[in-house]
Amino acid sequence: MALEDLQAAPAPRLAPGPVPRHVAIIMDGNGRWAKNRGLSRLQGHAEGAKAVRTITTTARENGIAALTLYAFSMQNWQRPDEEVDHLMTLLFDYLDMERATILDNGIRLKALGQLERLPGNVRDRLRRLEQDSASNKAMVLSLALSYGGREEIVAACQAIARRVAAGEVAPGAIDEAMLEAFMFTKDLPPLDLIVRTSGEMRLSNFLLWQAAYAELVVTDVLWPDFGPSTFFDCIETYRRRERRFGLTGAQVQGP
Ligand code: IPE
Ligand code: IPE
Ligand code: MG
Repeated sequence: MALEDLQAAPAPRLAPGPVPRHVAIIMDGNGRWAKNRGLSRLQGHAEGAKAVRTITTTARENGIAALTLYAFSMQNWQRPDEEVDHLMTLLFDYLDMERATILDNGIRLKALGQLERLPGNVRDRLRRLEQDSASNKAMVLSLALSYGGREEIVAACQAIARRVAAGEVAPGAIDEAMLEAFMFTKDLPPLDLIVRTSGEMRLSNFLLWQAAYAELVVTDVLWPDFGPSTFFDCIETYRRRERRFGLTGAQVQGP
């Protein structure tokens, strides 16, 4: 097939139905994918980066308003130096290679996490793409980098405690909305769906506050093998769920 035909190929489409507004993905299993093939973990991460591109455009083409990808946790800093360095290099290259796709598709890029720990060159590229894509409206792509849910909640508590100490806020005035305003996700729609690949049934410190009423879907597929059809299966599973938010089924279904 000629390159033009490939580029003109229609994007894979979800069956008609409701689409979650905000989907977050725990992209897990790069290491096991590589091990299964006798490759190095680093090769697994490189393959995982390709899946990020496919899923980003698939989400955008199918009307998802916000896609949040867990790319590197606070705890991942404790991996061997070689692996951390490789992941930072991949991220640096990703931000260069995907820049045109992000801008051409009207995607806004955001980074969530303790970004001050990232290498300066990665931070600079992130900031530039965040700024250059700031007015894009088709979808928000958030990369959770150097991110931890507990760390996010602790930072929010510290910020509020400073206001209390300064006499600006009464302890009794602290409510969910105030905490929410200190979360990295404050400008994003409420989280509808968390997908985790590689079969692990845990959140691994991802979006702990935001996950309160998100639906969880776990697939055994390893992240480098995660493509549009697995993504659509996860969304179909989400569609079959009844989100009750503490109410009864009858209340949610209405008269
Ligand atoms: C996910 O794949 C990528 C990151 C956490 C950065 P892993 O590297 O965790 O792969 P497994 O879980 O060891 O297979
Ligand atoms: C979660 O995966 C972090 C990312 C996908 C970035 P991990 O591989 O770090 O999680 P655990 O260690 O299996 O809980
Ligand atoms: Mg893992």
